[in-house]
Amino acid sequence: MSNGLEDVVAAETVLSDVDGLAGRLIIRGQPLEAMAGRSNYEAVLSLLWDGFFPDLPTDLRQPLADARVRVFELLGVDLHLVADRPAFDAMRALMALLPDGTELDSALLLAAAPGVLLPALLRLRDGEEALAPDSSLSHATDMLRMTTGAAPGAELAKALDTYLVTIADHGLNASTFAARVVASTEAGLTSSVLAALGALKGPLHGGAPGPVLDMLDAIGRPENAERWIEAQLAEGERLMGFGHRIYRVRDPRADALKAALQRVGKGGAVDTGRLALAAAVEAAALRALKQHKPDRPLDTNVEFYTALLLEALGFPRDSFTAVFAAGRVGGWIAHAKEQAATGRLIRPKSRYVGPMPKVAA
Ligand code: COA
Repeated sequence: MSNGLEDVVAAETVLSDVDGLAGRLIIRGQPLEAMAGRSNYEAVLSLLWDGFFPDLPTDLRQPLADARVRVFELLGVDLHLVADRPAFDAMRALMALLPDGTELDSALLLAAAPGVLLPALLRLRDGEEALAPDSSLSHATDMLRMTTGAAPGAELAKALDTYLVTIADHGLNASTFAARVVASTEAGLTSSVLAALGALKGPLHGGAPGPVLDMLDAIGRPENAERWIEAQLAEGERLMGFGHRIYRVRDPRADALKAALQRVGKGGAVDTGRLALAAAVEAAALRALKQHKPDRPLDTNVEFYTALLLEALGFPRDSFTAVFAAGRVGGWIAHAKEQAATGRLIRPKSRYVGPMPKVAA
């Protein structure tokens, strides 16, 4: 038995490979470094979904844009019902109303939904009117426009696109596994995506980037980093944005996002003080983790730079996990289709350690 299913191979996939020792992520034959910043989210969707839908068009830009418009038409009237709930929960509640099919149309609505619903919910929360999608724009550009209320500069749109590409798929992580378990029962794609959303929400998976910013705020100044981190570790606390179940070296996604952040920083969208603080915290954390856990390599993970990048793009920190979902939804759908195609129900065993019934004498 393996409590966290470490080292258990539970699926064969053509979608992505995470090599934790080499610090390498491959998406359908392409290394992440070749994609992040060069490919766009729509192209990555095409890559991930290739072979899983008989009617998949070669270019998904327009179908995805049209799906954004349809999501707004379908769910825009219901936004006010959940607008007072936390953004992630409200988005999840609305996505549950999408049709639970297994065909391309369902997939497109699900992939489009976070990019439409999250911006609308954030604006309603701020007392603004939700903006309708613009189907002439790319997914990342439109998502950012609907969030901030203004057409974003090309550099900012590119940075969000790079983020969505970077986190689109990542092996059999907890949320992807949840999606595959549900798909193995022959439930629809919406059911799979809802299960994945539930798994993503936890701080050990997709919920870490908000707390990364809380940590930076608590530290305040570069010279406080070492003392604050030492105190946390002495209390047995974990440092958010560090460590990974698979990677024993630096998470390659951290570098892709750091590069995106630096590009945005050159355009003046990132506070240089914030960057200096982040650099000091990262260096102090890596030093301290090495000292406290010499036997367990703990390096920077994707969430550390996610936090800084999404902050620079103007997303509030309690929405970061929902932005993560906007990218990962493409991977969940591909995995759900791949699992369903095996026709095999996922049903492991448990070992009973409870009491046995008393046998009558
Ligand atoms: N800060 C401090 N200690 C950490 C740590 C962190 N971020 N991550 C792991 N450790 C320690 C654990 O406390 C444990 O120490 P112990 O053996 O003395 O008890 C040891 O390293 C091994 O941890 P384990 O819980 O077996 O690792 P895991 O594979 O389950 O953990 C994470 C993976 C991601 C859950 C874990 O690294 C973590 O909690 N990181 C912080 C949250 C985060 O950034 N999540 C986003 C992931 S992309």
